[in-house]
Amino acid sequence: MKPENAATIGEATTILGDGGLVAFPTETFYGLGADARNNKAVAHIFAAKKRPQFNPLIVHVKDIAAAAHYANFDNRAKALAVRYWPGPLTLVLPRRGDSGLSLLVSAGLDTVALRVPAQACAQALLAAFDGPIAAPSANASGAVSSTRAEHVMQSLGGEPDLIIDDGPCSIGLESTVVDASGADLCVLRHGAVTLEELRTEFGSVSDATAEETANAVKSPGMLSRHYATALPLRLDAVSAEPGEAYLAFGETVPPSVVKIKNLSPTGDLTEAAANLFDMLRALDSPEYAAIVVAPIPNEGLGRAINDRLRRAATPA
Ligand code: TXA
Ligand code: MG
Repeated sequence: MKPENAATIGEATTILGDGGLVAFPTETFYGLGADARNNKAVAHIFAAKKRPQFNPLIVHVKDIAAAAHYANFDNRAKALAVRYWPGPLTLVLPRRGDSGLSLLVSAGLDTVALRVPAQACAQALLAAFDGPIAAPSANASGAVSSTRAEHVMQSLGGEPDLIIDDGPCSIGLESTVVDASGADLCVLRHGAVTLEELRTEFGSVSDATAEETANAVKSPGMLSRHYATALPLRLDAVSAEPGEAYLAFGETVPPSVVKIKNLSPTGDLTEAAANLFDMLRALDSPEYAAIVVAPIPNEGLGRAINDRLRRAATPA
């Protein structure tokens, strides 16, 4: 770590604690980080990247003990973590009910992706912050991932409150994402740890990217797992029937509904993104006949919100 970054780390932890965004180096790419427990801070990551979708994000933690606060590790997951952490492997695991993590970080799923980066500056930041840092690669959506602080600056400009420059990333390939939440291990994203190496050390490991290629012809758009409500979900609704729960946006609320939650009474899309999954879950109860959602403007984060709502309305 560059010596001048010792002081920068203190500033970074203050910014993260206040809900701000800090771009920081890892051995794979620079990440755009926020406190993974803070829905609003996580919503700001999506706004800054201009992602049209809420893909679940990787939560960075300092070590296995910290990771155990957020996910349930079986023996196999523990063995993977012991073998590869710190390093470029991300494990998708069942979220602990008491994890305290933002639901937006997991895009509403019951799993969470965890990784312990090896880069010294990332390690120092995680130790000093002493909390989980959600971080996708620090580039605008669709742009090339950043392996240098200058790239972050070019791609995201003034969006991060702070960019920690610790030189180029040593690997420059994404972390390998392995789903260890089910019966079989499955690579969801290829990266620095190879499939061959995983198979040599851990036996049978399937390759979701290969299966998805095969399935893509059959069911386009239905490939990735996503959060779906148990209740029927009706979108773009300006009225609701008695017995239905209403998820409002802005000031207008229909009169006949039994239960109302408001994504953002002031019509703020970042606030709405931050509240989306918590409010959907709160309304997804057998007391109600359906969840009815107000129209959300299809601009900025509204596009990502509408994308997730449409998926949530489609049975998995
Ligand atoms: O190398 C890396 O992993 C970089 C550095 C900054 O750590 N981070 C990164 O994050 O690439 P991001 O957000 O760009 O990629 C996250 C990947 C996506 O492919 C996402 O679908 C997957 O992890 N992912 C995250 N949470 C998941 C979950 N709960 N279930 C399935 N996939 C998940
Ligand atoms: Mg990325």
